[in-house]
Amino acid sequence: ESELEGRVFGHEVYYKEEMDSTNVQAKKLAEQGIANHGYLVTAEKQTNGKGRRGRSWSSPKGTGIWMSLVLKPDISPYNASMLTLVTALAVNRVIREQTGLESYIKWPNDIVVNGKKVCGILTEMSSELDYIHYVVIGIGINVNTKDFPEEISERATSLFIESHKTYKRSRIIEKIMEYLEFYYEQFTLNQDLRLLLTEYNQMLINIENKVVVQEKQTSFEGIAKGINEKGELLVQTEKGIRTVMSGEVSVRGI
Ligand code: BTN
Repeated sequence: ESELEGRVFGHEVYYKEEMDSTNVQAKKLAEQGIANHGYLVTAEKQTNGKGRRGRSWSSPKGTGIWMSLVLKPDISPYNASMLTLVTALAVNRVIREQTGLESYIKWPNDIVVNGKKVCGILTEMSSELDYIHYVVIGIGINVNTKDFPEEISERATSLFIESHKTYKRSRIIEKIMEYLEFYYEQFTLNQDLRLLLTEYNQMLINIENKVVVQEKQTSFEGIAKGINEKGELLVQTEKGIRTVMSGEVSVRGI
């Protein structure tokens, strides 16, 4: 508790043993005017954890961090997707510092260790054309998970599986709040990622490697060159540099 004092992110925490989804709960509390900027919602277990693209997110009791942070940033809705990248930077740094593992950011939403996903981020927003009511940043981290259902064990891993150590989840949450608040301040200074670019690109998996970018209908190949200050991924193709916006795209190494 004391570690969270003096900070805004995670200063107020809503905790329950079980929730359908911390994102859903955070949105409800924001709608009701209960959850303000920096309000954190977390549960031991989610019965209906949500992933991107309508997928579900496995969230068994006690083994992971399932949490959602409410933010009310005074920025344009167009810039809100960069909050996901800011979050990935903070989570990746905490994983590295707390575990010694060489985790990397898989732009735009995932953290991977040894090629497998250890963390996913789901950002949701309520906004008007030029005004954000609130943003909910959902973070799921597989921490002390011993094993996964067969369907996902090829793609998913946990901090325990990779390092053979167990971790105190509250410590990791505290550190994420601390770094996220710091990076968030850097981001809001210019409403872009210019101050975080170097660090971000150093943590980017696939950088300088061949990738396939799968967009809605088409896909193309190129070399990932890193992100720009707007958070777009730059991909060198035969025809020149293409900028890829986050959204309904997937990028994979080949
Ligand atoms: C993804 O990789 O598809 C995103 C996964 C996000 C999971 C987290 S767990 C806490 C929060 N509540 C949810 O229902 N989802 C996010």
